[in-house]
Amino acid sequence: MKALAVHPGKPGSLHLREVPVPALDQIPGGRGVLVKVLRVGVDGTDREINDALYGAPPPGDDFLIIGHESFGVVQEVGPAVRTLAPGDYVVATVRRPGGSFYDHIGFQDMTTEDVYYERGINLRHGYLCEYFVEDRDYLVRVPPALGRLAVLLEPTSIAEKGVAQAYEIQRRLRIWRPRRAAVTGAGTLGLLATMVLRLRGLEVTTFGLQEPPHRNAELVEAIGARYVSTRQTPLDRAAAEHGPFDVIFEATGSSAVAFGAAEVLGKNGVLVLTSVTGGDKRVEIPADRINLGFVLGNKVMVGTVNAHRDHFERGAEDLVRCTVEYPGWLERLLTHPVKGLDGYAEMLHLLTNGKGAIKVFVEVAEG
Ligand code: BGC
Ligand code: ZN
Repeated sequence: MKALAVHPGKPGSLHLREVPVPALDQIPGGRGVLVKVLRVGVDGTDREINDALYGAPPPGDDFLIIGHESFGVVQEVGPAVRTLAPGDYVVATVRRPGGSFYDHIGFQDMTTEDVYYERGINLRHGYLCEYFVEDRDYLVRVPPALGRLAVLLEPTSIAEKGVAQAYEIQRRLRIWRPRRAAVTGAGTLGLLATMVLRLRGLEVTTFGLQEPPHRNAELVEAIGARYVSTRQTPLDRAAAEHGPFDVIFEATGSSAVAFGAAEVLGKNGVLVLTSVTGGDKRVEIPADRINLGFVLGNKVMVGTVNAHRDHFERGAEDLVRCTVEYPGWLERLLTHPVKGLDGYAEMLHLLTNGKGAIKVFVEVAEG
């Protein structure tokens, strides 16, 4: 079968290769599920892997099949699989357990180990290929009503985990009735976080660089949130106008914005950081002011990465709700389809210079 792979460590090595179709019995205990890949989304992580800033091959291989935002249909199941059947639509989670206590209890997204195993990213092959096999426990069944929109589930799971962490942490307040949320960043994750927070009934202000009118601003407004361009209104001025923010979800990809957000968080508030910042950027920050604000305001800042399968399940529910409450909205996120695995050069081009691209994705097969 065809697969899209890189040679980790070698910049610009993305290529199409021939690999064997994986066998069901590669998964022990009869728990194997063979999945035919239908659609795969790509994001900045895939670009960074191709730039050799990130990513490692599975032990014994000198290549890594990329792609971690999966959507497929079950073809065949092992004898110990009762919850999935051929014809079911599924999305696979990304991280696999390592050795820490958290990994052992199924919370590999909370691993304390430095090494982590992520399909399509680190030490495990991904989903940009024709078929993959997986343990039934790492597959999430998606409602047929969602159809091919389910390719948005993996990025949605990241938003769900961030929001769930915020609510979990805020149980410290006994009663937490958040009213106003801010989302910094209006890319795919920022938009999905805006959607998740709107579905929780919050008033949401979403910040992006670009001045409206443009598609991302329209999408924010289409679900009843407010879009603010930080070129027109800086974060602190907007916070004075539209805050105080009980929760801020940071999804710009910039560590500098994270500290800007810390400065404007409301009292008793929680700031959720999701940007994976691989560089070594340094910025000057008003350290006394931020620290004082956190101390006197009982504020929390939390980092979050990856997602537990619960967050995929909650994500599937919210995506279905989204199709009902905001019809047509998710379709508008899927801006740049690429036809077939053969289209990988175009995929890469869109990922690097795609003007106005929200979600670039590969149509691997019909079905
Ligand atoms: C993926 C996450 C992953 C993170 C770090 C993101 O692009 O969506 O699942 O944990 O990268 O590798
Ligand atoms: Zn990702």
